[in-house]
Parts: sequence; structure tokens; C-alpha cells
Amino acid sequence: MSGGDLNMNGQLPDFNRTVLVTGGSGFIGSHLVCLLVDRHPDWRTINLDDLDYCCSRRSLESVEDRANYTFIRGDVCNSQLVNHIFDTENIDVIFHLAAKTHVESSFETPAAFQRVNVDGTRVLLGAAHQARHRPQRFVYVSTDEVYGAGLDRVFDESSPVRPSNPYSATKAAAEYLVRSYWDKYKFPIIITRSNNIYGPRQFTEKVIPRFLTLLQMNRKCTIQGTLPQSRHFLFVDDAIDAFLLVLEKGILGEIYNVGTSCEIPILQLARELVKTVKNVPDSEVNDWLEFVPDRPHVDLRYPISCEKLQQLGWRAEVSWAEGIRRTVKWYRDNADFWLDA
Ligand SMILES: NC(=O)c1ccc[n+]([C@@H]2O[C@H](COP(=O)([O-])OP(=O)(O)OC[C@H]3O[C@@H](n4cnc5c(N)ncnc54)[C@H](O)[C@@H]3O)[C@@H](O)[C@H]2O)c1
Repeated sequence: MSGGDLNMNGQLPDFNRTVLVTGGSGFIGSHLVCLLVDRHPDWRTINLDDLDYCCSRRSLESVEDRANYTFIRGDVCNSQLVNHIFDTENIDVIFHLAAKTHVESSFETPAAFQRVNVDGTRVLLGAAHQARHRPQRFVYVSTDEVYGAGLDRVFDESSPVRPSNPYSATKAAAEYLVRSYWDKYKFPIIITRSNNIYGPRQFTEKVIPRFLTLLQMNRKCTIQGTLPQSRHFLFVDDAIDAFLLVLEKGILGEIYNVGTSCEIPILQLARELVKTVKNVPDSEVNDWLEFVPDRPHVDLRYPISCEKLQQLGWRAEVSWAEGIRRTVKWYRDNADFWLDA
């Protein structure tokens, strides 16, 4: 355990709220933790993360010595550890993000995905539900991928769930576990299902950082398959705002889509990044693209409606132009960040 400065009496200062973030060292989790620690000095933020290959300690450098931040290195599947956290801390809010997240790896090691994403959620839920200090909110951060592909139809929160890869299947299974605690115990859960989130510090296996780092290494962007895949991209700050809004205003037991109308074909994304990073004319863009075979099954697109979240007052504030500008700049300024990975 680290962080959390003691006061003059050798005790932790009093806090109004204690928030447990699982997976707080990962891409989205680290943005969430930094924002919580900065914006809420009167809240204590605890990050439980086992530091999997996809995260860097540097992501949380700016908060690691702060009095209202505590890091616990550990596995969310370790029931002894997780029970101990709930026995010894008065956890008011849980943001559960810890997960295995790479779709292609999920076909190679589905058992690992099942263990972390499903068993980990079961362990955390059980401990939170049994805790003597009853949490006010358990926010489970899920994904639009649970809907499966939507060619013509737009998914709302009541649409059927049809996951089509081991990653999304385990996220859907975990959602059902989370919902069962609402159905049976009225345990105060909320589920979010978000589009693809992008921004600084995302590990290089995901599409935007993958293209950016390949180009920075003077290598071509690899485009999988020939089908017209596209994704909706939401800037990480907007996603975090949505998570914090559902924490305060979301209705218990409900699911909220978190999305954007910014749909970009993957080929167009690659072209745009080639032009920005390589500064080449249109005629030379194709020199930086390479087409490779597809994964076993690929969902072409995931269009979702966010009306329910918008009714709470949320709007995506960061345009694609601004979000990608900030992201490209960060990868340019921090070219060595993922070097060891
Ligand atoms: N990135 C996206 O586009 C996106 C979209 C929708 C939902 N989500 C969900 O948001 C959450 C975070 O995604 P991300 O993109 O930040 O992923 P990430 O892979 O960057 O981070 C996952 C984090 O979980 C931690 N972790 C993994 N196994 C663990 C274990 N056994 N115990 C404790 N910690 C463990 C990792 O160390 C890492 O810090 C995930 O639940 C993901 O399903 C992500």
C-alpha cells in the first residue's frame, strides 16, 4: 500500500467520502483517479490494481504523494484481500474498472478474461455487499460491445445483449452478476456502457495509440481485413464526466449508454493520423497503410443512443478535432512512455 500522508497526529485526515477505483492504474482508471484526487481533496481515493502489462506507474505520478490517494497493489479476484479492504475501510463508492480489455487477446486466453472480468466482479460485489459500512454506489464500467454489432439499428439500454467475443461476453456476464444484486438486494448498482474511449496514456495495443506509435517508429498502420469497420470514439474526459454524473444523478439499478455521434471508419482514422503525424500529401498516404488478415470475427460498428444519459444533463464536450489533437500531441511529447512495454 502506498500514498495517503498522515497528519501531525499520525492519522489519516478525515474525509467526507471514500471511493474505491479498481483498475485505477489503467488508461481510463488513471484519468478517473487523477480527476477524483484533484477535484475532491475532501474525498479519499483508493486504487486497487495489480499493474497488468497494459499500465504504467507513470500514469499516476502526479497524484502518488497526495494525502487523499492510496494505492493498493493487488488482484481483484483475491477475495481475502478484497474482503480485508472492505473490512478496514469505509468504502462509500466503488468504480469497478479492473478488467482484461484487449479483444484479440480474449480469443487467445479466454480463461484469463473470465477470471478477471467475471470472477473479479463476483468477488468485489460480494465483498461490497457484505461490508459492514454499506456503499452508496457501485458503478460498473461496461462497454457498448455487449450489444454486438449493429449494422442498421441504434442500441438503447433495453436492446438485447449479444456479445460476440470473449471480452464482451465476460463483460456481459459481469453485468448480469451486478444486476442480480440489484434485483435481489437492491444493492445500489449502476452500469455504464461506453463507446471506444481514447486519449493520452492509452496502452499501444488499442487502435489509436497503435497507429500513432507505429507511425512514430516509421512503420505502416496495419488495417485488419477488408470490411468497412468503424468505431464511435469518445474522448476520455467526456467519459469520466459521464461516470461522475451517473454517480451523483444516476438512478439506481439503471444502465446508461455513454457515447458519441463521432463515428469514424478505421481506414479513415488511419489516413487522418498518417496525414497528421507524417505530414504527407494525399497521394502518399497509402504508402503508410498495410492490410493484414482479420481476426476470427469482427463487429463492424456499435451505434448507441445516449438519450437517457443526456436527460441527466450530459453532453460530450470535446470535439473529435480537439480530442485527437490533444492525443496526438501527448504521444508526440511522450514517445518513450510505453517504450518498455
Ligand atoms: N477503453 C475503452 O474504450 C473502453 C470502453 C468501454 C468500457 N471500457 C471498460 O473500462 C474499463 C477500463 O478500461 P481501460 O481501457 O482503462 O483498460 P486498461 O486495460 O487500460 O486497464 C485495465 C486495468 O485493470 C487492471 N487489472 C487487470 N486485471 C486486474 C486484476 N486481476 N486485479 C486488479 N486490477 C486488474 C490493469 O492492471 C489495468 O490497470 C474496463 O472495464 C473496460 O472494459 C473500456
